[in-house]
Amino acid sequence: MKKIIIINGPNLNLLGKREPGIYGAQTFEDFYKDLNQKYEAFELSYFQSNIEGELIDKLQEVGFLYDGIILNAAAYTHTSVGIGDAIKAIETPVIEVHISNTFSREEFRHQSYISPNAKGVILGFGLQSYELALQSFL
Ligand code: DQA
Repeated sequence: MKKIIIINGPNLNLLGKREPGIYGAQTFEDFYKDLNQKYEAFELSYFQSNIEGELIDKLQEVGFLYDGIILNAAAYTHTSVGIGDAIKAIETPVIEVHISNTFSREEFRHQSYISPNAKGVILGFGLQSYELALQSFL
């Protein structure tokens, strides 16, 4: 069974409550439960942190063991050289995802330290972005 982890960055623990016009009304926990039921072929796990170093620690921990990483680094996408370097350092392929279409938003969201090192990028499909990323590992 393929081992896939979803890693979510800062403020994504507030999904459901946070700017629902942009990020939707569903909590990530609800969505994750549905995803597990729908994709029994994967051994899925989930990690969220608001702390940059904890995200890097997790990438290093799983990055030589897992078959795939689905990463929404949230605001750190646009700022973190450290997360970009971590993705370069590990072996497991990383799919970058975003709930919103970052290119239709503020200019500072157009820059990503993740994209150059990611296997692929999926954005703008709401929580379905995660599902589409998962399907790429089928
Ligand atoms: C986000 C987009 C980022 O620009 C923002 O900082 C987030 C969420 C998204 O999933 O749309 O926190 O990564």
